[in-house]
Amino acid sequence: MKVLVVGGGGREHALVWKIGQSPLVTKVWCAPGNPGIAGLAECVPVAVDDLDALLAFARTHAVDLTVVGPELPLTLGIVDRFQAAGLTIFGPNAAAARLEGSKKFSKDLMAKYAIPTAAYQAFDSRDEAVDYIRRQGAPIVVKADGLAAGKGVVVATTVEEAVQAVDEIMVDAIFGAAGARVVIEEFMAGEEASFFAFTDGKNILPLASAQDHKRIFDDDQGPNTGGMGAYSPAPVVTDRLHRDIVETIVRPTIDGMAAEGSPYAGILYVGLMIAEGKPRVVEYNARFGDPEAQPLLVRMKSDIVPLLLASARGELSGERIEWLDKAAVCVVMASGGYPGPLDLGHEIQGLAAAAQIDDLLVFHAGTALQQGEIVNSGGRVLGVTGLGATVAEAIDKVYLGVQAISWPGAQYRTDIGRKALGR
Ligand code: AMP
Ligand code: GLY
Repeated sequence: MKVLVVGGGGREHALVWKIGQSPLVTKVWCAPGNPGIAGLAECVPVAVDDLDALLAFARTHAVDLTVVGPELPLTLGIVDRFQAAGLTIFGPNAAAARLEGSKKFSKDLMAKYAIPTAAYQAFDSRDEAVDYIRRQGAPIVVKADGLAAGKGVVVATTVEEAVQAVDEIMVDAIFGAAGARVVIEEFMAGEEASFFAFTDGKNILPLASAQDHKRIFDDDQGPNTGGMGAYSPAPVVTDRLHRDIVETIVRPTIDGMAAEGSPYAGILYVGLMIAEGKPRVVEYNARFGDPEAQPLLVRMKSDIVPLLLASARGELSGERIEWLDKAAVCVVMASGGYPGPLDLGHEIQGLAAAAQIDDLLVFHAGTALQQGEIVNSGGRVLGVTGLGATVAEAIDKVYLGVQAISWPGAQYRTDIGRKALGR
């Protein structure tokens, strides 16, 4: 079977690594890929939003299965286009990807199907949004309605900060059309976790638990990022909570989407806030999390390809997933300046040394080849991922890898996985 993976980050590197191990697979392409992926698959210089070129490639090369990593092509309708052409593709169609593409759509769905989440209101008018914020008080959360590359959320601790966020999103339009509407939400306290399930629109197959670390600095300080590290399993998600999440959130979401005429197939990512043993939805994403995919895929014992195919074909019932009885921890190494203006173009040292370490994988995200050297070319650069018998062992392993790698300005958190140790 010939597989095309769409994307070029750490998540796609992990997907290519996992898919390539399947005995069913004879060839893997990745568009556009990155220098790390190039060691495992043939990279194709096509951008993730160039749907015409991706479709033409899949047809010409008789691709049997296309797996979409990031949200942008999903919201643009890559799945609709491929399916119309009779091609098998893993992911939700554009109507279903609204769960991630529109905060208002997802909040309205949760309200209609009584799925626990923060109270909210959506506004098309700046003045009405500001009035509402003044009535509600702080802390309060301001979100651009559309896709904003993970940067469209401000958790405001004061009313002034919230008003400023509304002005930046709606008046200064820093996210363009994605900010024509805002959603204002109740602030939820608690601990976050990331929950994933394969689904074919009807059947649900949950993955193991995972937890991300969104803030740039240790102890969850500083601004939000795309995610600075993740681990699996996450003990905050007890077995009972796992069942609750499926019953009170994932099942009604999938059934609700089907009832709305937009059945959701692919992987559903639910960002959760857990307080007093109760889960509430922070947001949905229409794809694997990044970096959560790295530790999850490293722990996945089952062949992933039958799961991807079954989700795409509506045949998920009867599938199951086996997991290694080990913990995995992924530490993201980011460029200097991230999540602000980036210090790029430095040669990365130590990749060969890290490759010698057992039970350690270095997934590439923002790397590029420059005159034969691998340099940092994006915000999140590497996802160093270690396995261990326990989270503590996996932490030791992963930081051994991180310490072997360096470039000027490199930054990473030193506390990834620590929350799991306290439990
Ligand atoms: P989102 O892009 O919706 O995942 O939001 C990014 C981050 O903002 C989340 O991972 C949370 O840390 C935080 N956040 C979003 N919504 C809320 C909320 N209602 N209460 C507390 N924190 C939130
Ligand atoms: N790890 C957060 C995300 O993938 O959006």
